Amino acid sequence: MAKVIKSKRNLPNLPYFYSLIEWTLPNLNRRKSASRKAQTIHDLARSAKKRVPRVVYDYVEGSAFDEIGSARSSAALRRVQFNARTLRDVSNLDSSEMILGQKVDLPIIFSPTGYTRLMHHVGEPAVASVASKNNLIYSLSTMGTTSPEELTAAVPLGRKWFQLYVMQNRADSVAVINQARRAGFEALILTVDTPVSGLRLRDFRNGLTIPPRIRPGTVLAIARKPVWWINLFTTKKLEFAAFRGWDKSLVELAATIFSPAISFDDVKWLQETWKGPVIVKGVQSVEDAITLAKMGVEGIVLSNHGGRQLDRGPVPVELLPDVVKAVGKKLDVYIDGSIMSGQDVYAAIALGAKAVFIGRAYLYGLMADGERGVEKVVELLRRDFLNTMALTGNRTLAEVRETGAIFRNE
Ligand SMILES: Cc1cc2nc3c(=O)[nH]c(=O)nc-3n(C[C@H](O)[C@H](O)[C@H](O)COP(=O)(O)O)c2cc1C
Repeated sequence: MAKVIKSKRNLPNLPYFYSLIEWTLPNLNRRKSASRKAQTIHDLARSAKKRVPRVVYDYVEGSAFDEIGSARSSAALRRVQFNARTLRDVSNLDSSEMILGQKVDLPIIFSPTGYTRLMHHVGEPAVASVASKNNLIYSLSTMGTTSPEELTAAVPLGRKWFQLYVMQNRADSVAVINQARRAGFEALILTVDTPVSGLRLRDFRNGLTIPPRIRPGTVLAIARKPVWWINLFTTKKLEFAAFRGWDKSLVELAATIFSPAISFDDVKWLQETWKGPVIVKGVQSVEDAITLAKMGVEGIVLSNHGGRQLDRGPVPVELLPDVVKAVGKKLDVYIDGSIMSGQDVYAAIALGAKAVFIGRAYLYGLMADGERGVEKVVELLRRDFLNTMALTGNRTLAEVRETGAIFRNE
């Protein structure tokens, strides 16, 4: 019979034992500790779900109709396989990119999201502050719960873009654009995938209103998430800050904000009115991208609004290579939809995107742990992105795009 190998035993080595002990006190703040321990944005989403009422979580996570669009974006990103090079010195990595002539530290932009103070009372200023500290761009939504002026007053430093819907009445659009201009916003993002609002069935079922209405069932909701409700009642009123004083109901406001008559003429009008950079968000075809390139817009965002508008439309990341080929030399091609890790960011850049916009990713962090949660999202995206750059042998974004990626047929 073969001899069994045995370890020789010594007396316990106490100095060695002591050297392994980590003398840190357990963190009693469960929220802080959960966001500190998060290894993925999905971890933060799980923690977010515990912190906010269901109606709020569903508003963020949900999409339109059967919610196929956002699931297809995630599936498509997972099908992207990175080409890789080895034996290239990757001791110095540069993840920066020039956007509208200025450097950002990562190819990531904070997407506009409406009602952000509903997710966490610190809202838009907390997100913009994280963007500014990390040298990234923050976009404020027309449907924001902080006005352009308030945002600039709260976070004077850092680059800010303003997202606009072309409204039924151009004078209303001009009034909002002027707020952005006065507050020093650098560029306008025109969202074009909302001629009408998407049918988000979760919100209908949950009876979402802004601010939330107190109904008999709300008492139970308050008992379940008291901290969120206390924050709601003890901080600034939740309202669409750019429309303060308009005195319109939510339904009237939505009907005023979304114009079903929006066309390429409106883009031209906006270019003439704003005079600064215009980025068109919600492009879903090569043909429209070509038309917009001819019109001289600075950039386009291939987007299906996170699946919250048209549900079964083209998947942005699948459209990306053809759009980059057609117009990539004439304008900046951005993309969004289900970006949940630095690897997803890498996939989009390797397929030719200038940068990605993130939406739910930062909202999960915000709901989980306010500003700290958003900071954690940037930290995770940066860690994963740099790690993937090193493992694929790429030192710059130009090299990432040159090395490229392919779609696997799965
Ligand atoms: C809660 C929420 C609110 C949003 N509000 C707006 C908005 O006001 N304007 C806009 O152009 N896009 C809005 N979007 C779409 C995002 O800007 C972005 O296109 C989308 O979130 C990208 O997908 P992702 O969330 O999977 O990253 C919203 C998205 C979410 C999740």
